[in-house]
Amino acid sequence: MSSNNNNHLTTSSGAPVGDNQNSMTAGSRGPTLLQDVHLLEKLAHFNRERVPERVVHAKGAGAHGYFEVTHDLSQYTKASFLSEIGKRTPMFIRMSTVAGELGSADTVRDPRGFAVKFYTEEGNYDLVGNNTPVFFIRDAIKFPDFIHTQKRHPQTHLKNPNAVWDFWSLSPESLHQVTILMTDRGIPATLRHMHGFGSHTYKWVNAEGSAVWVKYHFKTEQGIKNLDVNLAAQIAGDNPDYHTEDLFRAIEKGDFPAWKLHVQIMAEEDANTYRFDPFDVTKVWSQKDYPLIELGRMVLDRNPENYFAEVEQATFSPGSFVPGIEASPDKMLQGRLFAYADAHRYRVGANHNNLPINRPQAEVNNYQRDGAMASGNNGGGSVYYEPNSYGGPTESPQHKPAPFEVSGSADSGSYDHNDHYTQPGDLYRLLSEEERTRLVQNIVGAMAPVDRDDIKLRQIGHFYKADPEFGQRIAIGLGLSVPDGV
Ligand code: HEM
Repeated sequence: MSSNNNNHLTTSSGAPVGDNQNSMTAGSRGPTLLQDVHLLEKLAHFNRERVPERVVHAKGAGAHGYFEVTHDLSQYTKASFLSEIGKRTPMFIRMSTVAGELGSADTVRDPRGFAVKFYTEEGNYDLVGNNTPVFFIRDAIKFPDFIHTQKRHPQTHLKNPNAVWDFWSLSPESLHQVTILMTDRGIPATLRHMHGFGSHTYKWVNAEGSAVWVKYHFKTEQGIKNLDVNLAAQIAGDNPDYHTEDLFRAIEKGDFPAWKLHVQIMAEEDANTYRFDPFDVTKVWSQKDYPLIELGRMVLDRNPENYFAEVEQATFSPGSFVPGIEASPDKMLQGRLFAYADAHRYRVGANHNNLPINRPQAEVNNYQRDGAMASGNNGGGSVYYEPNSYGGPTESPQHKPAPFEVSGSADSGSYDHNDHYTQPGDLYRLLSEEERTRLVQNIVGAMAPVDRDDIKLRQIGHFYKADPEFGQRIAIGLGLSVPDGV
């Protein structure tokens, strides 16, 4: 690894290298000697330059910045980094596309990941959201199947519109997110010109132990801007890294992007009576019922110095909470509490949290030792088990998650609320005529390659149930009629 402090090229063990242009050979024609350990190291290290790309959200751009509290909501949460107006916390964000590979084009129609790591004094808090307030499915058990349909066909290695629309048409809970994705917002102009959402419902707990439910909304201060579909397609060919470059250049020239963070807050008991299940990530909470409350401001003011070290090796987990912020019973979120840390152990390693980009700025004190790439002093000679009589770190019962009531039988049950049509219909009715026209065109364009009419008709039925005009226009665009019985 180079520190660039002097001009002497060295091996990774620090020895000066005599020749970096000619390998050592027996005579001037060779063959090459195994004795040239510098050559061996160079070839071997090169073979190991990649870690597995993220199984989703592989293509992304990252930036450092800070979060500043602008409004005091400490009556709702005891999270120390939110405790007072003016308090600043360093943070790192990674924004990404979902389905494409590491080298795929930025300007495609896809949700964008919006993963924020707050380096708080009580440990890292990761808010791993998207640029949409909802998601396609609401139970983690469907996620691998869903993502299979977004990725490549196992034989042709091509994207497969049949699979995409087959799955969506058989999973009507996806209708809301599909509708959002097909609007103009499906292709943001840049990563700076989009909102971010925590999407799930989370729990906040205050110093007295009282809980509320929250949803997070990051509102872009740059304003929403989207790309025209034809321009987006052209840019995808001309500069597939358009969004990545835009973010880097903006920060480089001091044009620091910023977002205002708002929350919606729901009283704990409202969850039992609200007209939608507030833990269903395919639904939004009406802002009339639960208005946005401003909390703070996030500013991105520093580019990574090294993409691999900081962006590729960054590991965000919805399970990284701090005291005062906890999980809700959302069945998607519950699955994510497992999936991310598991992915990190596979993709980066058991000690991924020791890497500088992931290392908490809070002191880390535990009995975990060893493992691949254990770095630092690995606990030195300090006590390495618990309970112990040597003054090792001990638990703090005041930081136990707030207890909560559960009831019912253990069963693989569905959600009680199954209205998948009101919210996407409301969204359709909210759009201007021009926006509706583009929405319908985008859907027709995306469904046209599906070669089975039964799949198309099933999906048209869902759009029809959201709003008859919506369904009709898509049916006409595809040269089909609305199926009977919808
Ligand atoms: C990345 C799983 C739902 C947002 C990932 C990764 C996995 C994963 C394994 C790769 C992690 C890594 O290698 O570092 C799942 C599962 C889900 C789910 C099992 C459902 C049960 C969601 C939802 C959202 C979301 C609902 C947003 C609201 C993201 C983001 C990333 C990501 C932003 C990229 C994080 C980064 O930049 O490193 N997901 N995901 N995922 N997921 Fe999910």
